Amino acid sequence: MTTDSSAEHLDAYPPSAEFAAAANGDASLYDRAGADREGFWAEQARRLHWHQPFTQVLDWTDAPFAKWFADGKLNVAYNCVDRHVLDGHGDQVAIHWEGEPGDSRDLTYSDLLAEVSRAANYLTGLGLVAGDRVAIYMPMVPEAIVAMLASARLGLTHSVVFAGFSPSALRQRVDDAAAKLVITTDGQWRRGKPAPLKTAVDEALAEGDSTVEHVLVVRRTGLDTPMVEGRDLWWDETVALAFPEHEAQAFDAEHPLFILYTSGTTGKPKGILHTSGGYLTQAAYTHHYVFDHKPGRDVYWCTADIGWVTGHSYIVYGPLANRVTEVVYEGTPNFPDEHRHWQIIEKYGVSIYYTAPTLVRTFMKWGREIPQAHDLSSLRLLGSVGEPINPEAWRWYRDVVGGNKTPIVDTWWQTETGAIMISPLPGVTHAKPGAAMTPLPGISAKVVDEEGNPVELGETEANGYLVLDHPWPSMLRGIWGDNERYRETYWARYAEKGWYFAGDGAKLDKDGDLWVLGRVDDVMNVSGHRISTAEVESALVGHTGVAEAAVVGASDDTTGQGIVAFVILTAEAKNTGDDLVAELKAEVSREISPIARPREIHVVPELPKTRSGKIMRRLLRDVAEGRELGDTSTLVDPNVFEAIRAGNA
Ligand code: WTA
Repeated sequence: MTTDSSAEHLDAYPPSAEFAAAANGDASLYDRAGADREGFWAEQARRLHWHQPFTQVLDWTDAPFAKWFADGKLNVAYNCVDRHVLDGHGDQVAIHWEGEPGDSRDLTYSDLLAEVSRAANYLTGLGLVAGDRVAIYMPMVPEAIVAMLASARLGLTHSVVFAGFSPSALRQRVDDAAAKLVITTDGQWRRGKPAPLKTAVDEALAEGDSTVEHVLVVRRTGLDTPMVEGRDLWWDETVALAFPEHEAQAFDAEHPLFILYTSGTTGKPKGILHTSGGYLTQAAYTHHYVFDHKPGRDVYWCTADIGWVTGHSYIVYGPLANRVTEVVYEGTPNFPDEHRHWQIIEKYGVSIYYTAPTLVRTFMKWGREIPQAHDLSSLRLLGSVGEPINPEAWRWYRDVVGGNKTPIVDTWWQTETGAIMISPLPGVTHAKPGAAMTPLPGISAKVVDEEGNPVELGETEANGYLVLDHPWPSMLRGIWGDNERYRETYWARYAEKGWYFAGDGAKLDKDGDLWVLGRVDDVMNVSGHRISTAEVESALVGHTGVAEAAVVGASDDTTGQGIVAFVILTAEAKNTGDDLVAELKAEVSREISPIARPREIHVVPELPKTRSGKIMRRLLRDVAEGRELGDTSTLVDPNVFEAIRAGNA
């Protein structure tokens, strides 16, 4: 979605004096970080407990492979759980869990410690050792967080796979990481009905040998679930009975913490690798300042799923490291009706709420009467993440949800960056509807043209590319098993400068504030989910009826972008018309996930190609968005669009 304000520099919301007076941050952070970046990060790293303190900060000698705090040792789970109990906060609620059907459960830090310890003991008994990979394929139940923390505690590297992904997507990820264990649930609640999940694991592992030795199954729905003798284990018969005490051992700061797969420009997802000390430092630092989080006082709620990076950094690691009390919700925002989120906010007195623009726009569609029927006065800060938030949605969010008083933090970051990079600081800096504003203290970003020259301020037309010109603690350490792809994807574009290419377009306004404009590569952003055009294309051509497919992201009022596909049929295509289109949509849902289901599929006789055979997606996007066609001079056959339009009609 593009931003639409030309007078944006006039439209700023300064911090209120009241918020500023009690804010965690202040302007000196920028000065301190500016004067001594590494010293600043060392200071932030000391928010954590180090079993062995570090003496080095950044080692960039093997760039672009960074090492942060390399000679320090810590345990990530100890930092998120044990130390709070040892500090006398064992009775503080860590998680207010709210199940979809209306059940709920509170876990204190002592409860969490016991659960994580049990899981750690049991996983050790299964023979897992530091460095092994564990796949976690679970809905938003407390055991999912316990599983992540238990893995972290043992130095196992987890790979959380969104429970909406298909068996084949799960298998691809399990194979790529050579996971030994899959942790899942019998099923998941979907709008009041239990849907099986464990059977998807069975299907994923059915063919050929896999590295998986065991499947550990949490009972959530009570669905009848077939178990494979010798391989499958019930959590409640194993982990739940294990000894509830476990001594955490320290690992190197650079020990791999997790792999998280994300879409790139090719069909194969990239396993983004994050390590321990630097990642946790920046997750905790940003959670503290960007959300102005006050432990023991705030009730925080991030609505993401643990299947995405936002769930990793801002449900699990950052918040728990900061001794949060947080809401974790299992279901959708409109079950049993559209009041659900506001009821949850009222029930727990949520003070910090972090969600995605697509949901804000959905709330807008449902109508302001719905939030207005509730007492939302506990809210004192709102956050946004996942895609650019259009100014209209920003204002609605602040007026209707935030009672026209809460600061909004529009946080730009990526799976690769690990933690927030660009955002206003509440109580410290101005905010503008639609702008991510300024790199955080300690972070440096630039907006440059193709050659790396800085773009001019205020040139709304002079859109540039967003680059990060200094390493940061929570940066990815590579792509799992593919160093070459890591260099190529992020570092080749500005190789001489040594800058990280984010893949986003951006501009700077007259005040020098930064606006992120969206992806400049073949990655689509649908409801804040990254989906590559190539992935959807390959699912489509996997169908016998499809000879060729081209997929583009077209702007969509609610989801930011919607997936629009153009397909050429084969001679074998059995049925045509609506039946085929419905079948193809279902095929993509099955092959990847319902989140990748195309909004539209157009059957066309030809696709627009350049002389070198490259599909011109830019032009297809013009068609999909109903615009005048851009430059068609490089096409082999400029008349192709007559045919495409005819095919569309
Ligand atoms: C987009 C999600 C504008 C951007 C944390 C980025 C944003 C991609 C914002 C990363 C924002 C995320 N404003 N665009 N505040 N936040 N994006 O890896 O295109 O799922 O490159 O990480 O989302 O998506 P990812």
